[in-house]
Amino acid sequence: MTPQHDWFKILNNCKNNVEKAIKPHLKTLNEPQPDLGKGAGGDAMKPVDLAAEKAIVDTLQNYNVSFSLISEESGFEKYGNNPEECYITIDPIDGTTNLLRGLPFYASSIAVSRKPVIVEIYAALVADLYHDITYIAQENRGAYRGSEKIKTSQVSSLQEAVLGMDLNTYKVAEIAPKLTDLIQQTKHIRHYGANALELCYVANGLTDAFVDIRGKLRTTDVAAGFLIIKEAGGLITDIHKQPINVKLDPKQTIEFVASGNAKLHDTILGLVKH
Ligand code: IPD
Ligand code: CA
Repeated sequence: MTPQHDWFKILNNCKNNVEKAIKPHLKTLNEPQPDLGKGAGGDAMKPVDLAAEKAIVDTLQNYNVSFSLISEESGFEKYGNNPEECYITIDPIDGTTNLLRGLPFYASSIAVSRKPVIVEIYAALVADLYHDITYIAQENRGAYRGSEKIKTSQVSSLQEAVLGMDLNTYKVAEIAPKLTDLIQQTKHIRHYGANALELCYVANGLTDAFVDIRGKLRTTDVAAGFLIIKEAGGLITDIHKQPINVKLDPKQTIEFVASGNAKLHDTILGLVKH
């Protein structure tokens, strides 16, 4: 029989151990970072990414969880006697550039699923590591910021909305024209540099929507935020308003619009060119 794990407790513990593990690295940010090669997601790995990954894996093992790991750093690994029992998709540090520059916006993202596909996620945590704020959700049990239940915003006009948008791509000449109409009608646009956490800002109503149609964001960054947004009452679809059901894989990319409410979602989708 598959053991019933207390994911709320286990994920919170992962977060505590990640915070401990990265502390020494935060003190050596001005020193040259060794070259550790590229991670499974294709970006250069830093010691702090690996320290966070190890803290998550060690914590899960301490709780005797059998799992298949899908990590932006190590890729696919199996742990325990029955690794198909659950899939753990992680971005150990989302926003590594921010962390290394001392910018106070980076997170750890962990999603637990029945199968290696995004719609099968049933527990998720994104931890704002700088401010020690935890966003957590379980399927059909709502989303929480710490112990407080969260809901997405009901702001539905682009004049009032604060809209997150990631335009961080060398292909900007191809992507930006699809967003020109939306940008033109939106008064407040933001990008903070850690998309897992930016999804939680939508879940919490701090922002009203987040758009990333660059075609380069990995599922490892989005997995946990995907459940947190949905459990907070928000919507996340592709630009054709189709549900997203991609496989969980560090090489799999994802394009999406996430919004706090259906009216704003429709307005945004109506302005994005295909
Ligand atoms: C990055 C952040 C950033 C986004 C990049 C991602 P990483 O994650 O989410 O906001 O613009 O595309 O790669 O690399 O720090 O895990
Ligand atoms: Ca990362």
